[in-house]
Amino acid sequence: MKYLRVFIILLSTFSFGLVRAGEGMWIPMLLQYNEKEMQEMGMRITAEDIYSINHSSLKDAIVLFGGGCTGEIVSDQGLLLTNHHCGYDYIQKHSSVQHDYLTNGFWAMNMGEELPCPGLSVIFLREMRDVTEKVLTGINIDMSEADRQAKIDENIKKIVAAVEKETKYKVSIKPYFLGNEYYLLLNEIYTDVRLVGCPPSNIGKFGGDTDNWVWPRHTGDFSIFRVYADKDGHPAVYDKDNVPYKPAKHLDISLKGAEEGDFAFVFGYPARTNEYLPAVAVDQEANLIDPIIVDLRGKVLDIYNKYQEQDPKVRIQYASKHASIGNGWKKWMGVTEGINHFHGVEKKRAFEKDFQEWALGARNRYMYIDLLNQFEKNYKELEPYQLAYTYFSEAGLRIELVSFAGRFVKLSEVTKDTPQGEIDAMITNLKTRSASFFKDYYEPIDREVAAMLLKEYLKAQPADFRPDFLNGIKDVDEYVDNLFNKSIFTDEAKVNELLDNFNAKNVKKLANDPALKVYQSLIGFYRNEVYDHISSLNATIDRQRRIYMKGQMDMQPDKRLFPDANFTLRVTYGKVEGFKPQDGKTYRHFTTLEGIIEKENPDIYDYVVEPRLKQLYNNKDYGRYADKDGTMHVAFTASVHTTGGNSGSPILNADGQLLGLNFDRCWEGTMSDLLYDPAICRNISVDIRYVLFIIDKFAGAHHLIEEMTIVE
Ligand code: ARG
Ligand code: GLU
Repeated sequence: MKYLRVFIILLSTFSFGLVRAGEGMWIPMLLQYNEKEMQEMGMRITAEDIYSINHSSLKDAIVLFGGGCTGEIVSDQGLLLTNHHCGYDYIQKHSSVQHDYLTNGFWAMNMGEELPCPGLSVIFLREMRDVTEKVLTGINIDMSEADRQAKIDENIKKIVAAVEKETKYKVSIKPYFLGNEYYLLLNEIYTDVRLVGCPPSNIGKFGGDTDNWVWPRHTGDFSIFRVYADKDGHPAVYDKDNVPYKPAKHLDISLKGAEEGDFAFVFGYPARTNEYLPAVAVDQEANLIDPIIVDLRGKVLDIYNKYQEQDPKVRIQYASKHASIGNGWKKWMGVTEGINHFHGVEKKRAFEKDFQEWALGARNRYMYIDLLNQFEKNYKELEPYQLAYTYFSEAGLRIELVSFAGRFVKLSEVTKDTPQGEIDAMITNLKTRSASFFKDYYEPIDREVAAMLLKEYLKAQPADFRPDFLNGIKDVDEYVDNLFNKSIFTDEAKVNELLDNFNAKNVKKLANDPALKVYQSLIGFYRNEVYDHISSLNATIDRQRRIYMKGQMDMQPDKRLFPDANFTLRVTYGKVEGFKPQDGKTYRHFTTLEGIIEKENPDIYDYVVEPRLKQLYNNKDYGRYADKDGTMHVAFTASVHTTGGNSGSPILNADGQLLGLNFDRCWEGTMSDLLYDPAICRNISVDIRYVLFIIDKFAGAHHLIEEMTIVE
């Protein structure tokens, strides 16, 4: 905490001469240091209202949802909101041809109809404590990395054991500021969480992958769950006698909407950012690695698209694969564009010049003097291995046949000494995997993808730095034809037959399968030529990054720095506002139902509009959920610093009331994971009034609205 002294707003080295917030993912227990600025920007509540361990506060309504998203409690009966794409897996698990909740939506009309979701948990943060001093006891800068880590682990173990004695909560300690500070977290985990409702996909996923990362946006990206507890309110495994969880606090919901310039903040669980990287690393990521991934994925997606357009069955088979490959593809494209457009590398270099001068300015800064040189050297050394890893994963393992064959490696290695029980378990498991693989497998796509990727792999990677199988290839097309014709893994019947009649002869057949051999060759190359180098270089780099982080804090004692996201609860704040993505182009901060009708296209899956929604639109039947301008607002943007994991997070107004749910960012500003720029970085939220409109007017689930606390 000693870095968080007096709070003075300084010109950020990376900003454009404007003093304005937006950047920063702040630790809730230290929010008193931001309070003044937040209030100057319009906030009417206090830091204590947001995070307190003495009385109930907004933090009591926020959860880590399903390990990867954020959710918030909106009633005194444990009702929870998160994104549709966060609840997706659970909605899917309850869906079948008879009950297609993905397509048609689902609404429990009473608590008895709510659906249990095994495997789903939500985590409440009960308290956090600064334990930096205790964790770093006995640590000094000259220690080897291994000794340092051993000492830290020992300290952490002791602290955790001591705290565990006095609490019923789950205790953990996490590094912040790349290991310069440590905080202890007391969490409570609830595992009986039930699905309450979700809109049909053409509302919850409206715009699909086409609109993903894009503004203007019209997605009703929400789903509803409920947290259950035992009779005393404690966490309990699912039991039909469990009761709705009574939170210490639930969020009030505002029907007023937000105007351009209004203060807003997001409270949730951002997963990972890298804001303090040296220029050489940003350059490597944005200008070398990301463009390769974008290029390879772009080519894969082109092939998917071609076949998906031809055949509705293939469209569904490849929808989910397309979504996950496409999500990163679009995001990293935005990172490269953004970093270059806003001269991110040059800005980092300019900062490094100042840093170097500062480091040379006093003798006790000796540990910083050679850092930047070391970064240049180590990242250069890392480069070929990063490239090798990129091709290994994005070109090699992307071939579905090869990854699938890889699942059978263990089975191909059984010997006469392997216990039968183990073999049976493997076979059962592989049968399940195989069924789900073939359900969504279309061989012509995979063949074309394989030929394309192997050509790219050969073109890009030097002969002495490739898996062996690649160096044996004379003609790629011929090779791929052979591979696909000879492997059994393209043929569900053959795979089933092998699994059904598994015997010693099959072991040999498996081990000799050409696709399995390709997999072995890839993995062998990665294990022997890449992994050790990457890990040992990264260990060195991590140490240097930690010291560099400390240097950046020492150099700017009056500037409040925030720790990179690490999947712990954070507050981030800014304003509701649109932006100018390009010269001559301006984006308004909100969208309306008109835009959904404009985008409507019954022939394009992503733009099909529900008839019932259209009817409500035609009748302008918006009830109290309309904006004062008379339209139905659907989504809005704000200059709030968010990242993956913030999906489902509440975005709140100056009074701490719910305005909407965060679900995405504009792709022009996705560089904010490396470098935040308030001019271009925007998060995207679905307007809570649209959410309520869908629940109430569209679905007729008025009983859910009754449970909530709504402020008109
Ligand atoms: N881009 C958002 C995120 O990174 C949403 C992803 C899900 N939506 C989709 N259309 N694929 O998680
Ligand atoms: N959709 C992302 C998520 O699931 C949020 C988008 C982002 O800011 O990266 O967390």
